[in-house]
Amino acid sequence: MSKRYDNNSSPTELLPGDIEYEMGTPIPGIILEKEKWVQTAIKRLPENGQLDLAAVFGRSAPLALDIGCGNGRFALSSAVRREDWDHLAIDILPAVIRYGTRRGNQRGLSNLRFAVCDGWRFLADYLPAEACDEIHIYHPQPFSDPNFSSKRMMTPGFLALLHARLKSDGRVYLQTDRKEYWDYIRSIMGALFAWTEIEGPWPDDEFGRSRREVLSIEQGLTIFRGVGKKRPDLSEDQLQAILKELPEPKFELEHRDSRSKRPLRKRPHRHAKRKPKPQNPKMD
Ligand SMILES: C[S@@+](CC[C@H](N)C(=O)[O-])C[C@H]1O[C@@H](n2cnc3c(N)ncnc32)[C@H](O)[C@@H]1O
Repeated sequence: MSKRYDNNSSPTELLPGDIEYEMGTPIPGIILEKEKWVQTAIKRLPENGQLDLAAVFGRSAPLALDIGCGNGRFALSSAVRREDWDHLAIDILPAVIRYGTRRGNQRGLSNLRFAVCDGWRFLADYLPAEACDEIHIYHPQPFSDPNFSSKRMMTPGFLALLHARLKSDGRVYLQTDRKEYWDYIRSIMGALFAWTEIEGPWPDDEFGRSRREVLSIEQGLTIFRGVGKKRPDLSEDQLQAILKELPEPKFELEHRDSRSKRPLRKRPHRHAKRKPKPQNPKMD
């Protein structure tokens, strides 16, 4: 089986059987023969009403949603690992979704769909209540320019939407390398979720769950990870009363350049294989 190196997410010539690399780290899955490729793009979201998930995937299965998926590394990895789960990965930027769909198509991942959409809108307009078993948000855009801080995704209102779209035993997975954003996230998550912070890397994606995580690891940044299990016992009145008390994400961010003194690690040689770490902590 040959390996193909891809340093900047741009397509190289890929052949059936290839493992594709990005920044020295394999993109999960193997390139299939063209006859086995599938279409993972949802090209048009409904004009009115919600997505018919059973029609989209042609079956009923547990659903994982990745919001702000970037180039889709986590969704691809999870779809390869968990064939019995369906996956939706969305991002507001068409350019990054194109990387994800190409990779999903070439790996024949019929349990994965990508869509270009704003996260808030996708939850509010396109998903029915209690549709998701898992919602994943890795490295939400920090918006360090104070003029754009109102665009931050993690707000009390967004938290309420996450809660409403998760099944009663559903979980939200969150991660960032921005300490100030993390402090805000941990200050609000416990209100609607049983919140657990995770030490160390995710056991199933040892080199990083997402492109941003792979980069953050290379830069020696501290990565904060946590899982929130939905509190299903809250009445609508209780929920509204809790939400009124939660702060908005108005924190200031430390200037990025001064946060890490550690130099970038040299990237591995194009055919170098990363050595697996000896052990991984359990997730929960
Ligand atoms: C820092 S990147 C992280 C991408 C990916 N999750 C990762 O960890 O590599 C943040 C991503 O969120 C997307 N994004 C920002 N605001 C969004 C929104 N309102 N709805 C959906 N995606 C959004 C950006 O386009 C970008 O791809």
